[in-house]
Order: sequence, then C-alpha cells, then structure tokens
Amino acid sequence: MRVEGKSHRTIWLGPDRTSVEIIDQTRLPHRFETITIRDVRGAARAIKDMQVRGAPLIGVTAAYGVALAMAADPSNAHLDDACALLRATRPTAVNLQWALNAMREALEPLAAPSRADAAFALAEAIAEADVALCAAIGEFGRPLIEAAAARKGSGPVQILTHCNAGWLATVDWGTATAPIYKAFEAGVPLHVWVDETRPRNQGASLTAWELGKQGVPHTIIVDNAGGHLMQRGEVDLVIVGTDRTTASGDVCNKIGTYLKALAAKDNGVPFYVAAPSPSIDFAIADGLAEIPIEIRSQNEVTHIAGLAEAGHVENVRVAPEGSNALNPAFDVTPAHLVTGLITERGVIAASRDSLAKAFPEHAAKA
Ligand code: MRU
Repeated sequence: MRVEGKSHRTIWLGPDRTSVEIIDQTRLPHRFETITIRDVRGAARAIKDMQVRGAPLIGVTAAYGVALAMAADPSNAHLDDACALLRATRPTAVNLQWALNAMREALEPLAAPSRADAAFALAEAIAEADVALCAAIGEFGRPLIEAAAARKGSGPVQILTHCNAGWLATVDWGTATAPIYKAFEAGVPLHVWVDETRPRNQGASLTAWELGKQGVPHTIIVDNAGGHLMQRGEVDLVIVGTDRTTASGDVCNKIGTYLKALAAKDNGVPFYVAAPSPSIDFAIADGLAEIPIEIRSQNEVTHIAGLAEAGHVENVRVAPEGSNALNPAFDVTPAHLVTGLITERGVIAASRDSLAKAFPEHAAKA
C-alpha cells in the first residue's frame, strides 16, 4: 500500500539480507518508523510488544524469526528453542503455529549448513503467499460490496469493520480491507465505519490511518456505536478479520466482534469474515471451548495511550487507583451469526461442510 507516495509492505528483508525490517505499529498514527530486527529474540519481542500484530503478520514475522535463528545457529537444538520462544509470544492467532510448523517441517530434514538460506527463502515465500491470499480475498469480496451498492441504488455503501484487519495486519492489502480497497479502486462509492477498538485502539490508530492514506472515506466510532448505527439502517455490511476460525466456522477475532455480530443479526445486516486459510484451525471445531484467549495487561484498560507534547507515546490513567480491570483480547463469534467467510477460494458458508469442500486437503487432516 502507498504511504506518502511510496509503496510499502509491513515486513521485508534488510539490504544485507540477514536482517528484517518492520513498521513499528506502536508508533502509528503519530510516527511512521521502521525497525531492524537482527535476531530471533528481536522477532519475538516485536510480536509480544505488538510492534507487529494482526494474525497473518504475526505468522510471517515468526517465519522470519526462525530464519534469523538459523542464520545464527542452524542446529536442531536452536531450531527447537527458536520455535518455542516464538510460539510463546501470543496464544490466539493460529497463524503463528501454522508458520512455525511450516518452517519446522521444511527445515528439519535439511542438513544444518543449508538451513539458513532455505529458511529465508521459505519466510519470503510465506510473505509473498500472504499477499496473494489477501489479494484473492479482495477479488472475492469486492462483488459483495458491488452487490450492496446495486441494492442500495444511491449513496455510498456503508461498511463497518472492527480492529485492524487491514494491510498493517498482513504483508499487504489486509484481509477485511482487501475487498474494500478493491471496490474503492473499481470506483464503487463506499464509506467505512471504523470501530475504535478499545483498549488498544487498533481501529482508531491503525485502520483509520491506513484508510486515510489510501483516500478511503471513513469515520471512527466508539465501539458501542455500531449497534445504534445498524438500528438506524446506516450499516449495509460488516466485514471483519479473524485470528482463528474453527473447522466448523466459529470465528475468533478481536474482543467486541461478537457483539457486532449479534447486533448485525438482530438488524438483518450481513456479517462477513475475511478468513485466509492460514487463519483457519482445521484441527478444532468448538471455538468457545478450544481457542485460547489472550488475557492482556490491566494497564491497557486503566490507561489510554496518546501522543505527549514531547513527541513520545504516553499512557494516561482513566480509572481510579485500586480498581481491577480484566482485559481479554479476543472473543468468539459462533458460526450461526456469520453470513459468510471470504476465503482465498471464494465466499463460503461458515460451516463444517463448506470449509471441508473448499479446503479438502486440510479437512482430510483434521
Ligand atoms: O491484537 P491484534 O491487534 O493482533 O488483533 C488483530 C485482530 O484481531 C485482527 O482482526 C485479526 O488478527 C485479523 S488480521 C487480518
């Protein structure tokens, strides 16, 4: 995607081809800064501290982390340690495990001296594949927005999205935003309601920033406004991303997604989930029982981050000293509330049958 006239991805190999560069997302929207990651510890830190975040980008960063580890020491023991370190960073997005499993499967059979080159090549291939998956989701999702425009007749299609499932959450295009960018490029009039997404405000800080950079009309709303807008007929469709969708179509995504799905159901608003296959966990069926939900620091709830005059990001307390806070980072939307999954193989029902039909090679392994 373009930032100030320059084309960018969220992660790329450094000029020496032995380091990795990322956009530091903890500095957005205030500063566009990049960071160089030189070792696996740096990759793990970037994921844990959310300098990179979003399920697909977490997976790609982990793949590069393994490559950096192999460049330092390609032994079996170091491969084990690197995978364990990266695996422990964030529990919910299945893309992390998916990428680590792919790296391990490819590297284990190789002799140690050839592992580093192979690991960088595979990490790059995973990053390129992510771009292609998102672009395909964009092409399959665009007609949903075009159909909404045709139904509507006049005025922009009103799309609501939650958190950031944009290009910043992937390598490029985004998942939920890919259909939006594709429809916008095709000239479909549209406007995006951007949920601010407390407590970390990925909507207000990241989605609004990236839509703004591409010139896509949008308005930030507080998380609780979505239902109100739906009741008033001001949302034509919802498109969100996913951190882990089960083999039966339950969708785990950023906390608050479930409430949007309930409001959408009550108001007859189509609720779509952009789900690339690396975000689908074909080994589990029951999202509520089987998906580990990350619990993050209380401080993210009791404090709000903003830009201080001195130019650094500062946390300001909004809750009384002594009050406890609970901070689950994700929730699960049951399949029956999902109108459809926008995958790289087409728009399908959120059901075991449809997922098995669309991805027979994975379903066979479950
Ligand atoms: O905690 P985050 O910012 O990593 O959460 C991101 C989300 O919940 C996204 O919606 C999800 O990863 C899909 S990204 C294409």
